[in-house]
Formats: sequence, structure tokens, C-alpha cells
Amino acid sequence: MSDKAPLVTVVGSLNVDYVARVGRLPMPGETVPATALEMVHGGKGANQAIAAARQDCQVRMIGSVGTDDNGKGYLKALGAEGIKTEGVRAVRKMQTGMAFIHVDGMGENTIVVSAGANGMTSADQVRAQEADIEDADVLLAQFEVPLGAVVEALRIANRAGVLSIVNPSPLRPTFPWASVEIDYLIVNEFEGEEILEDIPLALDYDCEIRDFLKGLRVNGLIVTRGSDPTLVIGPEQAFEAPTLAVVPVDTVGAGDAFAGCFAARLAHGETLWEAVLAANCAGALTTLRPGAQRPIPDRETVDRHLAQL
Ligand code: RIB
Repeated sequence: MSDKAPLVTVVGSLNVDYVARVGRLPMPGETVPATALEMVHGGKGANQAIAAARQDCQVRMIGSVGTDDNGKGYLKALGAEGIKTEGVRAVRKMQTGMAFIHVDGMGENTIVVSAGANGMTSADQVRAQEADIEDADVLLAQFEVPLGAVVEALRIANRAGVLSIVNPSPLRPTFPWASVEIDYLIVNEFEGEEILEDIPLALDYDCEIRDFLKGLRVNGLIVTRGSDPTLVIGPEQAFEAPTLAVVPVDTVGAGDAFAGCFAARLAHGETLWEAVLAANCAGALTTLRPGAQRPIPDRETVDRHLAQL
């Protein structure tokens, strides 16, 4: 990776995903057989970091793993992707985060996360990596690490004038909205409805949505909607952007592929429209094969598919 490539710094989680494939998802109290079981790398933070790295960006990651074999293996794997992990702390006596995932025959999933070392990522740790954020073209964060760490990262980015993107997933009611400025918030429909309260998530309501977002100090909202066009309420424009028509095999990590690709494309200087189209392709292509990270496409693959939109 050339050291002239734009830099995306990611503050977020690293998990080992235990993925069981099932014919259908179990109901409460029910046991269903797995048709396959796999252990792969995941975690929203690392998935997004990989998505950005595969779009030819330099990536620095801030987060935590345990001192267990999972943690050691994970750092090696990120190194192989060209991601700098000096900001990832190995926390003694903690396990690396884990996610227990069921994926059914339609590609739908349920996920239970045990935070492990991710829960130890702190504001102090982020402050110690201040330069990684100040040097970045884009800061990208999610809500799978303590919110104090996310807020500190955003404060540093705001002070340094670095573009900030937050994927507030999983949504947490205690985030101190309006205490920091966020350039783009990337949500799914469920998260979008929770945040916007009574305002409909629709293009026609762009003025109301923009006014509401102003109160949160959020400049732009991006709502991914599966196979439906992505809704974008930007600071100056609002539009819906088409996505690829695909038959998903596994949707785990698709949102992360979107967020990482979007951050990377903005870091490369693309327009909002171009970045969203590329991110739509990355998200859709990620659903075509099992696993969160393996199927995330590279830049050339995304560019090739853009012609189909
Ligand atoms: O967004 C998908 C990710 O959520 C999985 O990789 C899992 O680790 C959970 O964090």
C-alpha cells in the first residue's frame, strides 16, 4: 500500500465469529440442528477496517483483543490485510470478543455478542492514539466498543477537522448525541426509525429529517435498506441510490462492507453519490458468500460492478 493512499482510522470491535448455518432460525425454547459450523474473524470495527483497506486505503485500527490465541491470530490476519494495529491493545486476562451467529437458508441471521476485550477499549487508549485520528482523512466508528472511546475519537476528529462517520450499531440509548459533531451517520432502517422517532424515513421528508439531525449535530444520514435503494439525506442534497440485484446467501457483514467502502471512497475524494453507489455494490457483493470478511470485495471488483447500476 502506497503511503500516499488516503488514511482511514477505525475505532471499533474485533470478534471471533462462531457461525452456525441452520435451515431456519430457532424460536425461543427451540433447538435446531446446524448444517455447518465455522469460526471466522468478524466484529463491526475490524470488518469495516478490512472493507476500507480493500478499497486501497491505508487503515489504522484502534481497539482491543485478548492475550488469547484468538487475539494473536487476529492481529496477524489484520497485518496480512495491510492494516496497522499499533492502536489495538492486547488486554491481559481478557478473552477476545466473540459473536455467536445463526444464518438461515434465506441468508437471514441472529447475532449474540460477548464483548470480551472490546469492552476495555477506553477514552485514554484513544487519546494515546490521537495522532492516528489527526492524520486521518476519515474517522470511522461503531457502537460495539464503550461509548466513551467513540466520543473521545469524535472529539479528536472534530478538533482536527477530520471527516467523521459513525455506524451506531448496535444502537445504544446512552450515546450523548450533540456533544460531538458527526458528518455522516450510517444506519439500517430499524436504527433509522429509532433515531428519527416520529419522522418518516422517506425522501419527501428530507427537510424535517435535516432539521432533526441538526439538533443531534449530525450533518448527513445514510439509510441502507437491503435490496431497496439507499436513502441519503446529505447536508446539501437528498437522493435514493440504487443497489445491485442479488440473491443473498449470508447478510452478515454487508452493512460493514458498506460503511468501510463508503468511508474509503470519500477518503479517495469521491462525491457523496459516487461513494454511496460504490458502497451499495460492496454491501451487496458481500452477501453472496458466507462469512463477514472473506467476501468483502476489493476496489477493482466494486468498480467492475458499478457499471450494472
Ligand atoms: O456486523 C457483523 C458483525 O457483528 C459480526 O462480524 C459480528 O462479530 C458482530 O459484531
